[in-house]
Amino acid sequence: MEILVEKGDILEQSADLLVVGIYDKDNWENVFVDRLNELLEGRLKKLAKIHDFEGNPGQTMLFPAPKTLEADYLMVVGLGSFDSVDLDTVREAAGNAVQTAKKFGLGNVAFELLGEDEGIQNFNARAYGEAIATAAILADYEFSTYKKPKGNKKIKTFSIIAEDGRDANHALRGVEKAIVIADGVSVARDLVNTPGKDMSPTRLAETAETIASMSGRNVRVKILNREQCEKKKMGAYLAVSQGSEEEPKFIHLTYKPEKKAKKVIALVGKGVTFDSGGLSLKPADYMMTMKCDMAGGAAVLGVFAALARLKPNVEVHGIVAATENMPSGKAMRPGDVVRASNGKSIEVLNTDAEGRLTLADALHYACKLEPDIVIDLATLTGACVVALGEEIAALMSTDEKLAEKILESSLEAGEKMWEMPLEKRYRPLIESDIADIRNLAKSRYGGSLTAGLFLAEFVESNVSWAHVDIAGPAFAERPIGSYLQKGATGYGVRTMLQFIQSL
Ligand code: BES
Ligand code: ZN
Ligand code: ZN
Repeated sequence: MEILVEKGDILEQSADLLVVGIYDKDNWENVFVDRLNELLEGRLKKLAKIHDFEGNPGQTMLFPAPKTLEADYLMVVGLGSFDSVDLDTVREAAGNAVQTAKKFGLGNVAFELLGEDEGIQNFNARAYGEAIATAAILADYEFSTYKKPKGNKKIKTFSIIAEDGRDANHALRGVEKAIVIADGVSVARDLVNTPGKDMSPTRLAETAETIASMSGRNVRVKILNREQCEKKKMGAYLAVSQGSEEEPKFIHLTYKPEKKAKKVIALVGKGVTFDSGGLSLKPADYMMTMKCDMAGGAAVLGVFAALARLKPNVEVHGIVAATENMPSGKAMRPGDVVRASNGKSIEVLNTDAEGRLTLADALHYACKLEPDIVIDLATLTGACVVALGEEIAALMSTDEKLAEKILESSLEAGEKMWEMPLEKRYRPLIESDIADIRNLAKSRYGGSLTAGLFLAEFVESNVSWAHVDIAGPAFAERPIGSYLQKGATGYGVRTMLQFIQSL
């Protein structure tokens, strides 16, 4: 699908599908709605009544286009009230347009640059163009490695039509960015959608190498094998991997800008390529989607796929301690005590709480690079999904300002996130009788918070650190809105890229 930006009148475009936005009912007394209604010979208002279309965000109506238009179909999308048109609304509308075009095999879509109206607060043609294009590309995504595509006609062009020439120029800048960002998201989605059999730690490491070699000299990669990790005394990470036939691979990507970097940041992604639970084996129903347990790592790789093209003035390290978590005669046992690379001993009471063990060594490694900021992304706890549901990630941070900035970035990027506390009073819940700390809290409540507190033990106190638990939104069991279908979502790539660019 090619995304274009053109200056013009949306109703004069020739395309298979024209998409126009209208505000809610209270704002229907205007020239544009009159013009649309007239074109449709009064059917706009009549059918709106029949179908309860009130112009609310997310609502759509599809018409066969009248002969006076050079189009086959005309789609009207709701924008809500004048002051509530935001990036989320336009993203949803773009997703709906693409779904409709795909369903009816419409090859060319012309989409109004929504929000480009006098009086719309916060309208920014670049941001709106970026949001529309990102959602359109994400909605067009299909994972077809193992299944023949349905054979529907593909969308060839998706043209964003701006009334004003300057807006068109700005929107084009946004679209150029969106293409890079959405590519990064697709990289992450492909990695997560690939079954555990084919997405081994070795395969993940090879992908990191490919990304580095395709990025030119700004991106470098280092892969540590088992022996090298042993030398670094990564006893917690290696304990997870010891039950698997697959070799662990510790991935370290580095992006360095041409100019002196404004900040150094380390992104750490959980990279458990399959989480069976280990000897604390998961029940079948919970194990079914556990190929998604490297989604944090996939997001880090997705970010790196975009960095060399976005060229932010920030040094970025990407760290993924990739491993499988399997039961076997060599697997770690509940009750074992392992030692992480920062010297702390950990009593492993549940081998299914393996993510925090891999992250313990990955976070320590990240801190040794002396970055200003460390952010980890991890499908860490089922408790997080219980707390926030399937669409919202949890954010925990030792730095209030950093948390605020990440939340802002997530809002802008369209990925939902909510802050939870690193509550000191819960710290005794992870104290062990025989080791420095235990990997299973003494209470089953607040499982995401005790997991966050566990991770904090492996982060140096002089670094700003945030932890994002993406167990809910990383893998969609049902579509999330109009532009993320079932399966991997690539959650985190958009927010992290937005964050990096905001530094
Ligand atoms: N990978 C899981 C968490 C998870 C759950 C990710 C659902 C995605 C969707 C993690 O390794 C895990 O099993 N956590 C345990 C921790 C518990 C044993 C303390 C959990 O949440 O049940
Ligand atoms: Zn687990
Ligand atoms: Zn896991």
